[in-house]
Amino acid sequence: MKAIEVKKDIYWVGAIDWSMRSFHGYATNRGSSYNAYLILDEKITLIDTVKHGFVNEMMDRIKSVIDPSKINYIISNHAEPDHSGSIPSILKYCPNAKIITSAPNGLKALKVRYGEHNYEPVKLGDTISIGRRSLKFVPTPMLHWPDSMMTYCPEEKILFSNDGFGQHLASSQRFDDENDEPIVFEEAKKYYANILMLYGRQAAKALSDMKDFDIEMILTGHGVSWRKNVAKILDLYHHWAAGDAEDTAVVIFDSMWHSTEKMAHTITEAFNEHGIPAKFYDIKANHYSDIMVDLLTCKYLAVGSSTINNQMMPPIAQFLCYFKGLSPRRHKAFAFGSFGWGGQSIALVENELKEAGCEIILDKIRIQDVPTSDQLEEIRQKVLAL
Ligand code: FEO
Repeated sequence: MKAIEVKKDIYWVGAIDWSMRSFHGYATNRGSSYNAYLILDEKITLIDTVKHGFVNEMMDRIKSVIDPSKINYIISNHAEPDHSGSIPSILKYCPNAKIITSAPNGLKALKVRYGEHNYEPVKLGDTISIGRRSLKFVPTPMLHWPDSMMTYCPEEKILFSNDGFGQHLASSQRFDDENDEPIVFEEAKKYYANILMLYGRQAAKALSDMKDFDIEMILTGHGVSWRKNVAKILDLYHHWAAGDAEDTAVVIFDSMWHSTEKMAHTITEAFNEHGIPAKFYDIKANHYSDIMVDLLTCKYLAVGSSTINNQMMPPIAQFLCYFKGLSPRRHKAFAFGSFGWGGQSIALVENELKEAGCEIILDKIRIQDVPTSDQLEEIRQKVLAL
């Protein structure tokens, strides 16, 4: 396997994970990649590594360019093992290489995982010279771990962004313009929604810290990198970090015998009739991490569940647990559902929506057994009145 030169003397030496279909519960339907970069300058510099199981692929690519014992610096932008997991393997070749990491959290995390080495902790604005080029460090704490950091090379106008601006997308082509661009943007939005949405405030701070950078290329830690659409992806991150909402709705439900489903259809149609485009998600047919893409930008949310054994349907509970964890911006929401007797699920759903920070805009809609046409009309009127 060979390195791919992305700019003169700067090589992608990462690995492609074509088969990964779940990353901590996030459905990675198009696989991913772990991107590492090698800069040939007076000081040979490796930026990030790959997940441990892919170390041979990375070493092959590095060896196609240089002898790895010549590496002087390893920049560890992030200690999560998908980026740092091959540091011990690379250190077998260059045990004295200096490992640059964020202070204090990167240093702490790397020491816990990999023991004592030649570390150099850095903070916001610190810069090192590697010869003709310099590298400036921008810690981005909680984007999405305490140690997260990005690295900027002003001479090349390149931002090495690690998890930021990435996508879980396996591809043989390294840049946005070499791939199907709508798919790249779809996966970038899904990545932000599932990994970074919780950290909008920190994303805004990172964007502010980098506002004076002249960026022509963003070399990501996952998926493909940006050179054609740098301004567009930066603009999208500004909107996502600000929590900007569109006048759209998402209806999610699980139904035992189609009665809650009938209510979901009525609610979806009523939103559409009201001029608020709505998406209809049967949780049995859709993965919660895919639904998060629409939840990143929609204003309205309706969640429905039948009642089973005094509880909500387990797939809805799973969705709500994930949704609550991502702490999305304040959706205008309500709960609905049909039930046979107790009907506890609807109040439970409403409570979870409140705990997730939603604004409840309609009292929970409860219908016993199969909804009549009059009851469905009543639901339609309630949605039209929003
Ligand atoms: Fe891609 Fe937070 O690791």
